Amino acid sequence: MKRTLFMIIIAAAVCAADSGCKRESRAPAAGPAKFEEAKPRWTIGMSQCNLGEPWRVQMNLDIKNAAVKHPELRVVFKDAQNDSLVQRSQIEEFINAGVDCLIVSPKEAAPLTPPVAAAFAKGIPVIVLDRRVLGDQYTCFIGADNKKIGKAAGEWIVKRLGGKGKVVELEGLMTSTPGQDRHSGFREGIKGSGLEIIFEADMKWLEPDARSEMESALARFPKIDLVYAHNDPGAHGAYLAAQAAGREKQIIFVGIDGLPHEGQVYVRQGILEACFEYPTGGREAIETALGIFGGRPAAKEIVLDSRVFTKDNVDQGGEWLKIK
Ligand code: FRU
Repeated sequence: MKRTLFMIIIAAAVCAADSGCKRESRAPAAGPAKFEEAKPRWTIGMSQCNLGEPWRVQMNLDIKNAAVKHPELRVVFKDAQNDSLVQRSQIEEFINAGVDCLIVSPKEAAPLTPPVAAAFAKGIPVIVLDRRVLGDQYTCFIGADNKKIGKAAGEWIVKRLGGKGKVVELEGLMTSTPGQDRHSGFREGIKGSGLEIIFEADMKWLEPDARSEMESALARFPKIDLVYAHNDPGAHGAYLAAQAAGREKQIIFVGIDGLPHEGQVYVRQGILEACFEYPTGGREAIETALGIFGGRPAAKEIVLDSRVFTKDNVDQGGEWLKIK
């Protein structure tokens, strides 16, 4: 009796260690029909422009976490490693594979417009996420309003500096729409103030590029009051350059993204004085895809809200932007 019990325990332990065993042993009990139901019915191709930054890792995670609740969905991820040509061909691979829906977070607007339009022309629903393409040959665009965020940042900075000061602007990739909009919105927000933009450079969303651009700015200008960077990695790179020059305490740093484990931490640490949230839209993309699969037409444009995080409000969850 004791020996039989021992054998049962050993068999159970071996079985539990082998996930395949667990699946098969449950299949007959659950019945074949139930097993069928669990098979994915829809395949979504997700074309991510790069995974080199925490924000994009978070976007993929948001997509995965939303999709995993729906066994009828299967998401195939491709990472273009920050290369528009690679992203183009990965989208073409998804089209040839006959995916049921395409989610694209494009690196740049112009080079990614033709493959997105080609998928759309083939009748594949296309959800464009965070950065835009040109024209309207896609099903739905999801993202926060970058002009509004740039304008809010500009107004916040004017207020913070009392209407005047010397500012460095470190731009995101200017061939991508968030870079363009965070720039034009910011310029609108500071219009009429005494702020002077003494240095402006494209750091292409990348922390190392921001750091070296900031080194140039520091070498040229003995007085810099504030750095406005189009994303938090850029603001952090600028901070590191200023710290290496022993000037970080004389400069205020402001960024955009506001991830809980990145920008919000920098705010708590006093590295950034403010950062503006840019939500990934991952969950909303899956919700939109599910709607499309269920036969509900998607809105052409889904605009996500954004918050500002400062030392005073970060522990209360930030403050929603009210700007129009
Ligand atoms: C990541 C990122 C974010 C930024 C977004 C804009 O690649 O640079 O930091 O908010 O892209 O598209």
